[in-house]
Amino acid sequence: DKPFTVIGIETSCDDTSVGIVDSSGKILGEYKVSQWNLHKVHNGIVPTIASKAHKEVIDQVVEGALENASMKIEDVDVIAVTVGPGMAHSLEVGVKKASQLAIKYKKPFCSVNHLEGHSLVARLNQPHIEFPFFTILISGGHTQLLICHGVSNYTLLGTTCDDSIGEALDKAARIIDCRFGEVFDGEKIISNIHGGQAIEILAEKGNPSIYPFNVPMLNSGNCDFSFSGLKSELQRRVGKIKQTNTADERPLTLQEQQDFAASFQECAFKHLENKVTRALNWYYNKPMGSKKTKAAIAKKNKLKEQDEQQQPETIEKAPLKGIVVSGGVAQNQKLRKQLESISKKFRLPLYFPPTSLCTDNGTMIAWAGVEMYRNKMTSNPETVFYIPVWP
Ligand code: KG4
Ligand code: ZN
Repeated sequence: DKPFTVIGIETSCDDTSVGIVDSSGKILGEYKVSQWNLHKVHNGIVPTIASKAHKEVIDQVVEGALENASMKIEDVDVIAVTVGPGMAHSLEVGVKKASQLAIKYKKPFCSVNHLEGHSLVARLNQPHIEFPFFTILISGGHTQLLICHGVSNYTLLGTTCDDSIGEALDKAARIIDCRFGEVFDGEKIISNIHGGQAIEILAEKGNPSIYPFNVPMLNSGNCDFSFSGLKSELQRRVGKIKQTNTADERPLTLQEQQDFAASFQECAFKHLENKVTRALNWYYNKPMGSKKTKAAIAKKNKLKEQDEQQQPETIEKAPLKGIVVSGGVAQNQKLRKQLESISKKFRLPLYFPPTSLCTDNGTMIAWAGVEMYRNKMTSNPETVFYIPVWP
């Protein structure tokens, strides 16, 4: 139970980020170098450019975090690093640096799953969040519904069959003419933001009922997601509008952008809400709520049967202590409000990490290191390897 400190290194995607925390959850120092400007001209993240950029700044980022914490690496007790999932050669940079440090300074070493970083970081400043909790993990790479039974102990209830929710929002932003990393809100250009944020900003002034979309997989009988059909439908409708009345394509008007953003966002979030409700209903053995017509009852029974077939059978269903929503998309204020009704319905408190810790950061990796080290989950830095695909 002696207090200890952990440095966390994160290079799985396009940010080189390091955080140092202590075991009480205090953030001692952070440093991040973002690659926005490098990828902007390519209209998306280029893996070779990302890994090269990580290599160039990794030493500086580690030093920067230590300096901000007024510490030397010798003072840090544990070294943690994202080993996967993520882009292979980007992961490699962080893993190499972390293992070198652990070997040289003879420090305990924790291999962190990036998703576990997202999931556990809510406990950094909210230590009262107890296991087991329900996790809604919504980021650029993943859309997962999980039961977190404890550190490194999860049951996956639902995942996406194609794009993640963040990816869908990023693509939607591009389809409705936002430049990569930018949005024009009618008054000014806001830069260095993800597509999901651009959609959120545009949606605030849009009307979601102008271009209603069908919510995907309503009768799928499982807790999985699909966003690619929704994206194609957006593409089709935007294409049609751009072609009207002129021989050449025209850009969307601001109002059209706002209405499309609002409609798309509403549908994506409704899809998420439906599946979260479904997963929680299954967990608590509740029937799906719907009107009590004969057809509805028959449908409900059928869905219940499918639920039972498709979900893992042998998990221990201890009472849940709450719902943790994390990953980049969890920054969305509209979604945060929407999930409150589910929280009320199931009488489960809703927890979010602070918005600055929702998106990729080294601090969440350091915190996962704290939780892992407490549970004696260390590994050998001599033999560690990065895991780009980590089912
Ligand atoms: O967790 P994250 O930083 O990186 C991954 O691990 O993927 O998540 C990035 C994702 C992007 O797809 C981005 O569009 C989305 O999070 N995102 C948002 C918002 N801010 C970031 N989505 C919706 N609303 C936001 N405010
Ligand atoms: Zn992430």
